[in-house]
This record gives sequence, structure tokens and C-alpha cells, in this order.
Amino acid sequence: MAQTIAVLDFGSQLTQVIARRVRECQVYSKIYHYTTPAETLRAEGVIGIILSGGPQSVYAKGAPHPDRAIFSLGVPVLGICYGVQLMGHFLDGRVAPSKAREYGHGVLTVKKPGRLFAGLPRKLRVWNSHGDKLTRLPPGFVAIGTTENSPFAAIGDVSRSFYGIQFHPEVFHTERGIDLIRNFLVGICGARQDWTTRDFISHAVATIRETVGKSRVILGLSGGVDSSVAAALIHKAIGRQLTCVFVDNGLLRAGEREAVIALYKKHFHIDLRVADASAIFLRRLRGVADPEEKRKIIGRTFITVFEKSLRSIGRADGARQRGDGEAKPSLPRHRGRVPSGRHEVQFLAQGTLYPDVIESVSIGNNPASLIKSHHNVGGLPERMKLKLLEPLRELFKDEVREVGAALGLPREVVWRQPFPGPGLGVRVLGEISPDKLVILRAADAILQEEMMTSGWYWKVWQSFCVFVPVKTVGVFGDERNYADVIALRIVESIDAMTADWTRLPYELLQKISGRITNEVRGVSRVVFDVSSKPPATIEWE
Ligand code: XMP
Repeated sequence: MAQTIAVLDFGSQLTQVIARRVRECQVYSKIYHYTTPAETLRAEGVIGIILSGGPQSVYAKGAPHPDRAIFSLGVPVLGICYGVQLMGHFLDGRVAPSKAREYGHGVLTVKKPGRLFAGLPRKLRVWNSHGDKLTRLPPGFVAIGTTENSPFAAIGDVSRSFYGIQFHPEVFHTERGIDLIRNFLVGICGARQDWTTRDFISHAVATIRETVGKSRVILGLSGGVDSSVAAALIHKAIGRQLTCVFVDNGLLRAGEREAVIALYKKHFHIDLRVADASAIFLRRLRGVADPEEKRKIIGRTFITVFEKSLRSIGRADGARQRGDGEAKPSLPRHRGRVPSGRHEVQFLAQGTLYPDVIESVSIGNNPASLIKSHHNVGGLPERMKLKLLEPLRELFKDEVREVGAALGLPREVVWRQPFPGPGLGVRVLGEISPDKLVILRAADAILQEEMMTSGWYWKVWQSFCVFVPVKTVGVFGDERNYADVIALRIVESIDAMTADWTRLPYELLQKISGRITNEVRGVSRVVFDVSSKPPATIEWE
């Protein structure tokens, strides 16, 4: 079992970043709600605590306060920003409210390097964002670093291993911030740095085997990073006790279904069933133009199709076991060996990640926790009495990519750009028709090919085509014709919350546009979307 560093969340937007940085130091971190009792942390064997920042003043009504007993656990504590003010408040120092928040860069002068600043320069550029300030040190503490504005920018009580810093070591703007965090983890908490991808995989494999036993697991494979890595990991653990279902909703990009089959079935030998449901999806979408309505239909239809697939797998296997051969699976039978003595499907596997399960703290009038909804497939697990298997629920996205790469998934999968669940359904604007999908697929395939060849695919967040059903005039030979428009949407982003359009080289744009208008019948005009999010969103619908 890996050692755990607890990150207590007081509502900072940077809490997840702190947890992530700890893991970059090969130390396992877990985010806890600020109200978590000290006893829980003790029971979980926490070896050190980091108090996150937060937007409040420690004196404000309803300000988030931790269990006082965390300071008596005998483990090191590092308070960051709001965290250091909490230390001041709880350990008998003094914190003065200040009228203005202090933002931005400062220069920290290290007075007493000790173990926290071991190996770091005496002067460091640091990034601040705080309101209140510590004005009197708690007993036992000394100032170990100062800035222009604060004599107590970094403080420490070596005997208790309590440290506080007013700046944010977790952001990149703070010079050597990661080294400071590592000093706390390794030098002060004595962390072993045993959180590595290889260890995670072997631990996960053992846990999956133990949890699943002889029963069977079903996983809805979308081809995206999360479900792909989950599939590869579970397959490594239980082989053909895992069955993956890939739903072809008729809204996939060119070659997507074939690529999924080639990789999972042919390369990994995973028991993959492809549910060809494009006809049902397209029928239900006929005549529907409203984007949200389209999304709802696609979501509902997915659940029906997936549920049907589950039932048919159970039936088909039951029939095979009995040897009566009567079952008519609606899905193609997989080739290869059918495991003998098939057990019932008891688990539904999902690629749920850590950010999906963290209870984020909502600060303000309502300090109650906001629990993010899990990506359960429309309540399927309850209805079908399936247990959930979520082997990635402790991981951040970049850790998932590392696991995927270690399991042998190709770069195209591990670094695949996000693709929305409703697929091309929200990229054909308005009503969807097979003809429009053919055009969009052809144009998009050209864009992807050029992005890959030029290497730009790996540099951007998303790059895709949108079918714009607006007839504009063009000339074909000697004749005027009216054809639809293809828009190119290529954006850079960190988390899809904001995005900026990518400044692609003109030559590349020219090549993409030239190829689309020449090679795709029905398109005579290509436009390039130069809108940022906000106000525009990434998708057009
Ligand atoms: P927007 O368009 O809101 O997109 O800026 C942000 C990110 O979310 C993706 N997206 C979706 N993903 N179902 C999904 O699974 C959807 O309905 C959906 N709509 C947008 C989008 O591709 C981008 O990455």
C-alpha cells in the first residue's frame, strides 16, 4: 500500500494541482474534504498533511475550518496560503484581515533554508494570491523566508514539522515550487516515493482479480483515452473474463470503428462486440434539429443499445454453456476461444477518473460539498444489478496516459484528442442526414490526415470539421452551384473551460482547404473559426 499525503481542501481552485504535484514526486496524494476528522486521517495512515489555499478569510462567518486535532496527529503539516492562516489561527498566532488581495509575483528571500528549502537558491520568484496576512507567529514558529510585503512569507516549527508558506508552490510561476513540495514530502514527511506507474499497474491488476473473482466484466468502449486504458488494464488482469462493447452509433468519424476493432480485437485479443446500431440512432434523429434534443436522443439510445447488448451477451453465453445453440445474439460472435464455464456478468467497468469523484468544496453561503455525478451509464448498474468496477478512479488524466502507454496502447489512443459522446451528431449542424455525414466524414478525414502529417495534431487540444448547412455560391467548371460549407475548428486549451483558436500556418490552412474543396463533393467553401471560448464554445452546437 502506497503511503498517503492528505491534501485538505478548503475550496481553492488549485487543490487538485497540489495533489497532482505531490504525485509528480511519486508520492500518493488524496484530497480530503476540510471537515474530515483527524481520526479518519490517522486510520488511513496519512504520513503528512497539506492544507490547501482557499478564497475565504479565516475569520469570515462560516469560513472552512478543519478538525483542530489534525495538529495533534504527530504528522508534518504544510499550510499553503489560506492554510498558513489557518495555522496562525489554530496555533495561537495572529492573522490580520487585509482590504486588498495580493496577487502576482514576489521575490522570496530564504532566511533559514532548513529541510523545506534544502538545495534551493536563497532568492526565489514566487506567486502570491492571498488576502489575509499573518502578523504574529504562533509559538514555536520562526520566519524562514520573507518577501517585500511579508516578514512571514515562509514559517516553520521544526520540532513539530509544521511549515507554512504564503505563496503557491504548486503553480508553475513559482520557481522551483515542485522542489519545495518534494522537500516537504521526502525530507520532512519521509515519503518513500513509491507511487509509480508500474507499481500502480501491478497493484491494480491484483485488486481487479481479487474483486472480480470468476465473474465477468462488461465495459463500454468508446475508443477514448479513459475507457481504452480501463479496458487494457482490466484485460491484463482478467483476460477474457472481460467483454467490451463498442456501440457504432452512426456518428463516428471515418475509420474509427475499424481502428477500434484492429486494436482491441486483433492486437490485444480482447473479447470485443461491436453493436452496429447506426440505423436506430439515425432513425431516431431524423427530423430533429435542436442540439439538446439531439444529445438527449443519442444518450437515451445509447443506453437502450448498450443494455440490449448486455442482455444478449448473457443470453448467448448461457446458451453456449447449455449447448442448445438457440440463442441468436444480436451482436457478432467474437472469434477465438470462449472461456469455459462462463460466469454471470456482475461488473460494469468504467473509466472514471479521480477528478470525477473528488468532492469539491463549495465555499460561500453553502459550505456543503458538491458531489460530482458519476458517469454511470444512465443508472444501468442499479437496474441491471451490476457492480461498478472503476480501476482508474484514483488517477489524474496524465497518470492515465502514462498507464496506457505502459500497457502498450499506441500514441494515437493515449494522446487522442477529446471527442464528444454525441460524436458527429453535434458537428452536423441542425438536422442530421446520411449524406451530410458522408461529407463531414470525408472533410474531417482530410483535416486529421493533414494535422497528423504536419505534427500539429499533437500540439492542439482539438481539431475537427463542422458541417454548416448553408448554401453558398461556387463555380464548378463554367457553372455556378450552391454547396454547403465546412468550418475548421482548431483550438488550444488546458481543460476545455477556456480555449483559443490555433494560429495554424497559412500554408497548412491552404492545403487543408484546397484538399477539402477538391476532394469532397458537395463542398465549395471552407472557413476557419477564429473565435475564442468564451464567448464561443469549442463545439458549434
Ligand atoms: P464546449 O463546446 O462546451 O466543449 O466548449 C467543451 C468540451 O466538451 C466536449 N463536448 C462534449 N463532450 N458530450 C461530450 O461527451 C457532449 O455533449 C459534449 N459537448 C461538448 C467538447 O468536444 C470539448 O472538448
